Order: sequence, then C-alpha cells, then structure tokens
Amino acid sequence: MFKPAERLNLPGYPFAELERQATAIKASGQPLYDLSIGDPDLPPPKFVVDAVHNALDDPRSHLYPSSRGDYEVRCSVAQWFEGRFGVKLDPDKQVCIIIGAKEGLGQIARAVVNPGDIVAVPEPAYPVYSRAGCKLVDGIQLVLQLDPENGFLPDLSKVKNVKLLYLNYPNNPTGAEVTDDFLMELGKLANANPEMTLVYDMAYSEMCYNRPARSILEFTPNAIEFHSLSKMACATGYRVGFAVGDPDRIAALIRIKEEIDSGVPLPFQKALSAMLDSFKGNKPPTELLEYRRIFSNRKRMLSKALEEHGFYIFRSQATFYVWFKVGDDELPFISNMLKQGVLLTPGSGFGNAGKGWVRASVTSPDEVIQGAIEIIREVL
Ligand SMILES: Cc1ncc(COP(=O)(O)O)c(C=O)c1O
Repeated sequence: MFKPAERLNLPGYPFAELERQATAIKASGQPLYDLSIGDPDLPPPKFVVDAVHNALDDPRSHLYPSSRGDYEVRCSVAQWFEGRFGVKLDPDKQVCIIIGAKEGLGQIARAVVNPGDIVAVPEPAYPVYSRAGCKLVDGIQLVLQLDPENGFLPDLSKVKNVKLLYLNYPNNPTGAEVTDDFLMELGKLANANPEMTLVYDMAYSEMCYNRPARSILEFTPNAIEFHSLSKMACATGYRVGFAVGDPDRIAALIRIKEEIDSGVPLPFQKALSAMLDSFKGNKPPTELLEYRRIFSNRKRMLSKALEEHGFYIFRSQATFYVWFKVGDDELPFISNMLKQGVLLTPGSGFGNAGKGWVRASVTSPDEVIQGAIEIIREVL
C-alpha cells in the first residue's frame, strides 16, 4: 500500500484549506466576504502587464530560463537595491531570481539544513518557515514567540546553536515593523555567528505607510534577504521574486535551484524589472503610492469597526493585514463569522502563539470589506 514519506505528516497547508472553504461557499450561491488570503484585488500597474506582453515577442522567451535568473533582470535588482537601501550588490554573485518568495524561502532550507540542525522560527509566522523551512528538511524547530508587548519582535538572546533563523518584517500576520535598534542587534548576532544563516523575509518591504522598511543588509552582509513582486505590484500570480545577500548563501541557493527548477519564465522576470526600474532612487511609482493609500484606508476602516466592538487590535502602519484578538480560542468566532459568509484567517494557522487571534486581509474590494463590517456590526 502506498504511504507518503513521514515528513509529509503535516496538517494540510492552512491557506489551502481556506481556499477550499471559500470555493464551497461560492458554489452554494451564498455571498462571500473573503478577508482571508493576502491576494490583492487591485490590478498590477499597466506598464508591468505591458512588460509581460512585450517580452512574449522576445525569442528568448520560448527557451528555458536560467535557474538563477536573467542577467539584465539581476542588474535591475542590484540597481533598485542600491537606490532603495543604499547597498551595492554584485548582480552575478549576490542576486538570484526566485519563483516567488515562497519558493526561495523553502529552498534555502535544503541548501543550509542537515537533518537534526536547529531551525529558529518565529510564532506567529508565515507557515513556510516551520514547514518547508524546518519539518520538510528534518530540522529541529526552536520557536521564538512574538508578543504584542514587545511589538512582535523576538528575544534574540534565545537564538543559540541555530543553523537557520527565519525572520520577517514588515510582518505577516501581525503587521509589525522593526526598529533600527532591533536591526542593529540582529546584524551583530549574524556577524557573531557566521555558521548561522539569517533569512530575512521582506515580501512586504514596499507596503509601509509611515516610514520605509530597511534592509538587514544595511546592518550586516552575513544574511540572505527575500523580496517579491507579488505585493509591491499586486501581481501574486506572476510568481517572481528575488534573493539577495551573502554570495556563499546565494551560491548555495542557486545550486539547489539548478537541481530542481528551470527558473521563472522570462516575461515575468521582465515584469519584475519593469517594476523595479520604475522607482526613481527610493521614490516609488505613483501606482504603488496609490496601492498604499487604498490598503491603509481599508485597514483604518476595518480596524475602527473592530475596535468599536471592543476587540484588541494590534495597530500597525504596514502590510494589508489587521491582526486582532478575540479571546483564548478564535475558532468559534471564525466559524460563527463563516456561517454569515465572512471568511477570516484563524491565528492558530500561524502557529500556537497565534491562538485567540484573527487575521483579516484588506485585499478585497471596498464593498466586500464594508459588507463584512456590516455583518460584524449585526452579529456581534
Ligand atoms: C511573509 C511572507 N513571505 C513570503 C510570502 C510569499 O510571497 P510570494 O508570492 O512572493 O511567494 C508571503 C505571502 O503571503 C508572505 O506573507
């Protein structure tokens, strides 16, 4: 009888389960107010879509792309990075194009972790770190609990004998941002532990509403940082991102990718280039400014409604998530809301530390968010 490998003994990927529930509700004809997955409803900038169309006419688009990414696209990354963060990167040795941040964040673990190595993962967190980043490579997990009292920043003194450390700011699911002091402390930790790989996930680097996010590479060269087109251009379906940083870690990631995949289709790499090239230094294109205006307004609107109902909201000025506490166990609340057609993400999907919390994503049209607010007002 067929039995999958034991390492696949994981509960189903939490967001795949949400997708199934949403599909079932839609199929039943009931209106669905979907505030679950962070998948922006807004379209990518036209010049980004045009870049895909134009690249289809490039004969190179019919050929295998390279696993590490097109050279010109890697040059766009290096140029953007210098303008945005003031850090110079060698496009040959310090940049790798990836199939979205998710793929890179999973693959880096294969390149770094031997069975039994300790992988430190924050909680609550994007589930890829504890699953693809630890369990699927037979690592041993060290949980770094994130608490609202510390602004959802971890206690770095707990990081000992760690082979791989995942951190993510601006943070999903909490919306937390880091302080410069924290980044300085983290940089020192990475410098003092060259055997450890610090993975810094900046998928939301461009979704900050008050002050721009800073790169860990401004504080240490001893890290690998992950970025994505998905959120900065509302282009989650294009599946393209990039890893930057320490040349040895980038080389290890490229080695794994060469064994497993053949890179991102060129038209979507060109979409990434178009987006990055549209920045003037650290000044984003007007389309991105407009995304920020819309998401931050929606966040404010939903936070206000939830706060009026007495929920504790973690107030944040980054990402398109609202993270709020509903009690000791969020599941009865989630299922009550689902009966009314409002789909939310249970905090426990981000690890035990998320229990009692709920994440609402404001990546659906205003009227959907408004509809959900009315239901919250009626039901609660
Ligand atoms: C923290 C974090 N990192 C990475 C990703 C993956 O992004 P991508 O679409 O580039 O794979 C997500 C997606 O939601 C995320 O929340």
